[in-house]
Amino acid sequence: MAMLGRFALGFFLSCYLMISVSSLASPDEFLQCLSDKIPGELVYRQSSSSFADVLVSSIRFPNFFTNTTVRPLCIVTPTAACHVQAAVRCGRRQGVRLRVRSGGHDYEGLSYRSVRAEVFGVVDLARLRSITVDEHESTAWVDSGATVGELYYAIAKNNSQLAFPAGECPTLGVGGHFSGGGIGMLMRKYGLSVDNVLDAKLVNAEGELLDRAAMGEEHFWAIRGGGGGSFGIVVSWKIRLVTVPPTVTVFSIAKTVDQGAVDVVTRWQAVGPSLPDELTMRVKVQGQEAVFLAVYLGTCTSLVATMGRDFPELHMTSADCRPMTYLESTALSFTTLAKTGTPEEVLLNRSSSLGFSVKGKSDYVRQPISRDAWEDIFDWFKKNGSGLIMLEPHGGFIGRVSTAATPYPHRRGVLYVIQYLVFWPAAINGGTAQTWLDKFYDFMGRHVTTNPREAYVNFRDLDIGKNTVVDDVSTFESGKVWGERYFMGNYRRLARVKAAVDPTDYFRNEQSTPPLLHGRHN
Ligand SMILES: Cc1cc2nc3c(=O)[nH]c(=O)nc-3n(C[C@H](O)[C@H](O)[C@H](O)COP(=O)(O)OP(=O)(O)OC[C@H]3O[C@@H](n4cnc5c(N)ncnc54)[C@H](O)[C@@H]3O)c2cc1C
Ligand SMILES: *[C@@H]1O[C@H](CO)[C@@H](O)[C@H](O)[C@H]1NC(C)=O
Ligand SMILES: *[C@@H]1O[C@H](CO)[C@@H](O)[C@H](O)[C@H]1NC(C)=O
Ligand SMILES: *[C@@H]1O[C@H](CO)[C@@H](O)[C@H](O)[C@H]1NC(C)=O
Ligand SMILES: *[C@@H]1O[C@H](CO)[C@@H](O)[C@H](O)[C@H]1NC(C)=O
Repeated sequence: MAMLGRFALGFFLSCYLMISVSSLASPDEFLQCLSDKIPGELVYRQSSSSFADVLVSSIRFPNFFTNTTVRPLCIVTPTAACHVQAAVRCGRRQGVRLRVRSGGHDYEGLSYRSVRAEVFGVVDLARLRSITVDEHESTAWVDSGATVGELYYAIAKNNSQLAFPAGECPTLGVGGHFSGGGIGMLMRKYGLSVDNVLDAKLVNAEGELLDRAAMGEEHFWAIRGGGGGSFGIVVSWKIRLVTVPPTVTVFSIAKTVDQGAVDVVTRWQAVGPSLPDELTMRVKVQGQEAVFLAVYLGTCTSLVATMGRDFPELHMTSADCRPMTYLESTALSFTTLAKTGTPEEVLLNRSSSLGFSVKGKSDYVRQPISRDAWEDIFDWFKKNGSGLIMLEPHGGFIGRVSTAATPYPHRRGVLYVIQYLVFWPAAINGGTAQTWLDKFYDFMGRHVTTNPREAYVNFRDLDIGKNTVVDDVSTFESGKVWGERYFMGNYRRLARVKAAVDPTDYFRNEQSTPPLLHGRHN
């Protein structure tokens, strides 16, 4: 209803205030402009019978698809970069903002819904997903609308000893995932996704298509981890591929509290970040159990020797080893490492079920948490079985990259990142689960980094702050509240880039980087 109101108001005012229309949305003119410039079958209006199907196609969480969710005016599904350019030009001219969606996995749904009532269009890149591998150069070009599963599959089918470091869930979109950093099981050996991006093609706020040379090094710096939705629409990425052995070794070992989970997790904090770079071992804590999930770029024999030397407390033996190709390891369930199908079925399946709503949060740990505190943490999980935390070790390659090299600042000295998740079925209210998470997160404040309490932009959390908009531009000060937690000292540099490339704040959402404008009292 609020959206309809705004619509009518925008239309009404634009008839009278012709001079200042730039900040007022003209939805009808926008739709007309799209239909002049883009083939009709690529544009879905709210009145289209397929609108809801296209909208929901990559929505992962039902809590962002309700009857009160602020939905887009239309969805554009480009099949070429020129369609993205046309959408941006129409949007600029008619004062209609665009949100861009690649895989739709944003934890707050910001790629397809607005928190405030506003008129906006969605550019959904799902049809722009070609992948070209250059085996000889060990590089690839991947379009933003590809999923990481499709990327892993295309690389390995070209050459099974090449791979790319990125996240664990095959349906993640390349566009949003790379925009925020990209952590995964190869990160201790090869870094984040953004540590391996060589070039990109982006549509800026003027509708121009730019590569690295044309956008310049500061703009190119910002898109490698500065968060999606702020610096333009990245259409395609050139990436450096990395090498993996013909066979890797995977294990999953569970320890209950009765079996000593508290001691083993306490010990893992020192071990996980300092193991050989070839070994990434994450931990899932849920209920009264910790599960140690590892991918090792090497053989079972050498893994058993490494574990016996560095982490005897886990009692890992050769019976725990599961040898497989690296590609097969990427098709395992990311929370259990259980097999859920063949790589073909799992990695190329873009559909996601709308089964569970979610709320996520994150923290970074630089000083090991005490054993006593871990006892308390396991007690929190007695109170709610539907919550979990994932601990992802840093160290290795990540810690050797300087804080200023990319916007991702959580580098040297970080032991691990904590991802908090609670789930609830679509049909029920999530209030209880979220209250539990809020209280648990408060409790954790004394055990994690402070000043700032660091957080990971790809685990987006609107509780830590939303932009305030003044004179139609998000303010630097309001963005600082959440921005310094995601980017630390890099926030200011991101805001300077934003002022240079998008001073009128065309590309924005509730947590986009605001422009740092001179002479403005933010
Ligand atoms: C099940 C699950 C597992 C996850 N696992 C991991 C993991 O292992 N490692 C990790 O690092 N993260 C992980 N994440 C977080 C994930 O990286 C982020 O949610 C990421 O932003 C998703 O990208 P997307 O394209 O799917 O999302 P979208 O919702 O499409 O986009 C996310 C944000 O980026 C913007 N954006 C999208 N495409 C573009 C583009 N082409 N150009 C500019 N901006 C764009 C959007 O507007 C939005 O603001 C996980 C998330 C989920 C839901
Ligand atoms: C939205 O759905 C809820 C139930 O999920 C219902 O109670 C409410 O009346 C609906 N609101 C509108 C505006 O349709
Ligand atoms: C695989 O690599 C070769 C050689 O670099 C290249 O010609 C081919 O197009 C690639 N295939 C794919 C699917 O990218
Ligand atoms: C694809 O994924 C969906 C959602 O998880 C699932 O329901 C479906 O069975 C999968 N299809 C195949 C072929 O695996
Ligand atoms: C735990 O969370 C679920 C929702 O996921 C909720 O139904 C349940 O009541 C919660 N239990 C407690 C004890 O908070």
